Amino acid sequence: MKGKILVTGGTGYIGSHTIVDLLQHGFEVVSADNQSRSNAGMLDGIEKITGTRIKNYKVDLCNFDETRAIFEDNNNITGVIHFAAYKAVGESVENPLLYFHNNLGSLINVLKCMEEFDIPHFVFSSSCTVYGNPDHIPVVEETPRKQAESPYGLTKQMGEQMIEAFAATNSRCKSVLLRYFNPAGAHPSALLGELPVDKPQNLTPVITQTAAGKIAQLTVFGTDYPTRDGSCIRDFIHVCDLAHAHTLAIKFLIENADASKCEVFNIGSGDGISVLESIRAFEESTGIKLNYKLGERRPGDVIAIFANNDKARKLLGWIPQYSLNDIMSSAWKWEQYMQTQPLHLDLRTYRLN
Ligand code: WQD
Repeated sequence: MKGKILVTGGTGYIGSHTIVDLLQHGFEVVSADNQSRSNAGMLDGIEKITGTRIKNYKVDLCNFDETRAIFEDNNNITGVIHFAAYKAVGESVENPLLYFHNNLGSLINVLKCMEEFDIPHFVFSSSCTVYGNPDHIPVVEETPRKQAESPYGLTKQMGEQMIEAFAATNSRCKSVLLRYFNPAGAHPSALLGELPVDKPQNLTPVITQTAAGKIAQLTVFGTDYPTRDGSCIRDFIHVCDLAHAHTLAIKFLIENADASKCEVFNIGSGDGISVLESIRAFEESTGIKLNYKLGERRPGDVIAIFANNDKARKLLGWIPQYSLNDIMSSAWKWEQYMQTQPLHLDLRTYRLN
């Protein structure tokens, strides 16, 4: 084994796919997830794909003693990948204190345990939302962080700054911040995928639920933007490419003793795709005509953003493997799988706590 990794948020969308990738690259993994926004069913998917049953600590990472007990129970953790956080932009606007408490409180407890148990490697789930509405695209890692568009985005900006300060004072621990663009798609086996709790906000699950008839009609939020077709531009990255970036980040930290204390990477495909182009990609890759209408802008939306991913390619050796059509076809395959599985039907009726 290449070492034991603690994955917080391990039964979530990106966390579960990352656990599969870590296992397939020789790491031992434990998960910590209170499943307030995810479900144990993802552990079944991980087991079906890898043959490994992962232990999940169902604890509240905002409770220091519960968090500390995980580290007590696993005295040989090589690194921590921290996904656990709420991520619904709209909900964060309605309930900012919930987001500050949950996203920052859990991070502080994990960092305190990293320090006490002298864990050397830390990978943080950050986001392109830290760039706000960028002046120039594609964005590079040096693009300045601008005013966050939501409390969710603010928790990612504050999280990055907390980790930078922690890394500067902690002699042993080295950190990597991975700034995701728009994660989408599902594992090719269709045994893992995005499981929106309650009505989905993100474009891809709205597309697949519209195609499945769970949503009557998709609304394109704005076609009067200063872009090539008037709709917003985004950088969609397949969840399996994103998962592998985490494995490479841990390996980068383990293999580079002289790595800087805190390194930032953009994890995006590098392709700017419009909302209307995404819909066309879904129709092309599935042969399904999508029922959508052109509507008003959604407040808080960034007009256009996509990544310059040269640094991740160069330093992590990360090369995205999946196309936009792979994203859409895998997302649709997962949507269809969920309709047929009693377990997933249970998950489908799963509601926010
Ligand atoms: C994308 C585009 C919408 C739904 C996400 C995550 C955020 C961060 C960045 C990780 C926008 C349009 C959507 C619909 C639409 N990722 N849209 N109709 O806002 O870019 O942010 O990626 O941290 O956490 O939320 O993603 O998928 O909500 O929207 O027209 O029904 O699709 O207006 O232009 P967003 P999104």
